[in-house]
Amino acid sequence: MKVNLVGIILICFSSIIVWAGGPANLDSWIQSEKRHAEVYLIQNISPRDGVAGSVLASPSRANPDYYYNWVRDAALVMDVFVRDLEDPKPALRRSFVEDLLRNYTNFNAEIQTTNALTGLGEPKFYISGAPYMDNWGRPQNDSPSLRAALLVRFSKYLINTNRRDEARNHVWPVIVNDLNYVAQNALQPSFDLWEEFKGDNYFTLLTERAALLAGADLAAEFGDNNLPVYFRTQVAKIEQGLDRHLNRKKNQIIENQSYETGTVENKSSGLDTATLLGQIHTENYPYISDTEPILQSTVRSLTTSFQNIYSINLKLDLGPAIGRYPEDSYYGGNPWFLTTLAFAEYYYRLGNLNEGDRYLDRVRYHVDERGHMSEQMDRSNGFMLSAVDLSWSYAAFLTAIAARTNLKADLNSQINSHIAKGHAQ
Ligand code: NOJ
Ligand code: NOJ
Repeated sequence: MKVNLVGIILICFSSIIVWAGGPANLDSWIQSEKRHAEVYLIQNISPRDGVAGSVLASPSRANPDYYYNWVRDAALVMDVFVRDLEDPKPALRRSFVEDLLRNYTNFNAEIQTTNALTGLGEPKFYISGAPYMDNWGRPQNDSPSLRAALLVRFSKYLINTNRRDEARNHVWPVIVNDLNYVAQNALQPSFDLWEEFKGDNYFTLLTERAALLAGADLAAEFGDNNLPVYFRTQVAKIEQGLDRHLNRKKNQIIENQSYETGTVENKSSGLDTATLLGQIHTENYPYISDTEPILQSTVRSLTTSFQNIYSINLKLDLGPAIGRYPEDSYYGGNPWFLTTLAFAEYYYRLGNLNEGDRYLDRVRYHVDERGHMSEQMDRSNGFMLSAVDLSWSYAAFLTAIAARTNLKADLNSQINSHIAKGHAQ
């Protein structure tokens, strides 16, 4: 009886929400945006004029020219698909996704052997697999780290589905190449993920650490006793490096240090959304927890700063649009979809549905009616800017939504156990 009553109340409550155009409306937008995002993302993978397994950062060929496979972007895109496989429910598209990851593995095995200028630290390749040989910010050592961590997850999936040999013979060699490079170069100066600052970067260190730990686990699984020791020794050094980014006095994580060269030297705020991206993308091997005060205070400072510098944030009553870092001047310095979505994802992970939804609502406001997302939105008029159909924007949307779905399932099971307890009394 009690349950029925609760049910009736819930039904009444949700129809009020539908009527008011509230959260139910957001849910239906999410469903349609999810379909759009998947379609546009898949269009950027294995393009007709590229090798199977290559991933276009964006189909934009000019202003900006993003018609390349960036190793970082591609790994973050594949994260969406590995999640699909890790999901215990039988996925309808399992074999399609497996092929995607096999192609991705083969393409990356191929580009690892080219004469790229910085070897495994090379950030971008033509979709033919040829290395980009012109001037660029290189190496970018987050790239092999993200790729290796991703391939470890694919390997574990293969092992769990009785394809240990495939993991051992086809995927593991690619991982070992990356990880030997990462272990060797862990504390060497590297360009940051924004390809502007060569020095010591918190995001890069986080990804190196997580990759080496993931690799150590898999090496042990394959019966290798030496690599795990070597990788963990390097991890201890990386952790000392990471610790130097935690400014306890300021209660802030400083993203970039020890500038060596690049196009952007002075970030007076020390703030960068890269710090939060690093947290999100190393979720299996967190260096600090999501609730760590220094991280939360860094996130608050980022919010305040972006709230104040973009005029679209002053005018509208939505969650603030978030950029890369306050001093950014690329395309005039604007908020990005993927950084705003990272905030949504973070709040979902913290269990804060309302706060996450504020950021998602912000994204919804700037996406067009066909669900396209470019890289940026104009800081003063809100229109989309820079690379169209940026793969990483779609991946960021899909992983944020996955975090939201997990959170809602948790909240539902909490409600149910509450109801069950009430019933038992
Ligand atoms: C292109 C890079 O990809 C972008 O991140 C950077 O801001 C600009 N070059 C300017 O250096
Ligand atoms: C510029 C961004 O700064 C960088 O992080 C990204 O890898 C490339 N664009 C390609 O999307």
